[in-house]
Amino acid sequence: MNILILGSGGREHAFSWKIAQSPQCDKLYIAPGNAGTAAIGENVNIGVNDFDAIGDFVKNNQVDLVIVGPEDPLVNGISDYFNADPTLSNIGLVGPSKAGAELEGSKDFSKKFMERHNVPTARSMTFTRETLEEGLNYVSSHPTPVVLKADGLAAGKGVIIAETHEHARETLKEMLVDAKFGEASSRVVIEQFLEGIELSVFVLTDGESYKILPEAKDYKRIGEQDKGLNTGGMGAVSPVVFAKGDFMEKVEERVVKPTVDGLKKDNIDYKGFIFIGLMNVGGDPYVIEYNVRMGDPETQVVLPRIKSDLVDLLKATAEGKLSTTDFEVDAEAATTVVMVAGGYPEAYEKGHPIEGIDTVSGATVFHAGTKLSESGEVVTNGGRVLAITGRGVSVAKALENSYNGIANISWQDVYHRRDIGQDILQLID
Ligand code: AMP
Ligand code: GLY
Repeated sequence: MNILILGSGGREHAFSWKIAQSPQCDKLYIAPGNAGTAAIGENVNIGVNDFDAIGDFVKNNQVDLVIVGPEDPLVNGISDYFNADPTLSNIGLVGPSKAGAELEGSKDFSKKFMERHNVPTARSMTFTRETLEEGLNYVSSHPTPVVLKADGLAAGKGVIIAETHEHARETLKEMLVDAKFGEASSRVVIEQFLEGIELSVFVLTDGESYKILPEAKDYKRIGEQDKGLNTGGMGAVSPVVFAKGDFMEKVEERVVKPTVDGLKKDNIDYKGFIFIGLMNVGGDPYVIEYNVRMGDPETQVVLPRIKSDLVDLLKATAEGKLSTTDFEVDAEAATTVVMVAGGYPEAYEKGHPIEGIDTVSGATVFHAGTKLSESGEVVTNGGRVLAITGRGVSVAKALENSYNGIANISWQDVYHRRDIGQDILQLID
């Protein structure tokens, strides 16, 4: 079959890498892709939100299955677009409807969804510009730290954890009155701070049945010891030591089942990934957020741990046949460390030639922000540039392989964190 992946990051390179291993995959297209995906399949110069062009491409190239990488096209309704066109509605598409994508597209929607379906989450209230005064009073009576979240998509930057009431009040005003995150912060969710260790759980559902994929922990801050600005993600590890036995049973019973059942009860068409950001609070899971796609860089550790043919799982999801499909997980650990452009997540340069990718042997190099220059050289083309995935019998061994890979690669002003996975290693000891 012919498969089209939408997106251009490390996540999409990892999808391409895994899907290309399937005997079922004939032609593999990536729109728009990067220098890494160009080496595996065919990059197509179409933007992820250009639904007309995507639809035409799918029809003209006999694409059978579309995998939507990022959230944007999902929130904009790509699945509904396909369903509304009789010449596209029979094409398999992995990604929820616009209504389902609201789980990520609106924090207020997702909080109400969780309350309605009894999914454990932090207590919260939502405020708008009209209710600013109430919001300011609410903040004053709220224990610190106060968590403030822009309702809409804010490229991973819409969450502020205010240590003092004053900072929280200032932030609320900036978000609602000064439109700090544009339209995304026209509504703000204020919620209780949860103290614990984070974990990302990935679920694949066809709307009826579900599969829980290998879990991961990611590292969002730019600096070591989780200091500094938030990024898209600086690294990830899988497995996560406490994600087993009792705790995972609680996750399945209290979070995964009510989420999938809740979508059904609300008549929301959902065929795709649910990425559940959880906090382990003293052994009990609380949902911090839903995403309606796979994580980046979590995909770069989750997919390498799936032994089975991913196309079987994706096809079954799109066709509503997940209950009759199974998959096997590889016990080996996987870790990934992201190499970024100096300055990221603030201003950074692009276009620097990358040296040494071909000399890496014990790790897999997933491209994120790269492109081929006119002379055919791989150059930097984004903030997060590469993700280096290592495997091993333990997280420690996998990390060794990730970091050995990194030692071979260089470009001007490259930066990476040296402490990915260290907190997990301490939990294992
Ligand atoms: P999000 O954009 O929702 O993933 O939030 C970004 C980060 O903020 C999360 O990964 C958590 O580290 C943190 N966070 C969000 N909500 C809470 C909360 N209620 N309590 C503690 N930390 C939180
Ligand atoms: N790494 C976090 C995300 O993909 O949202």
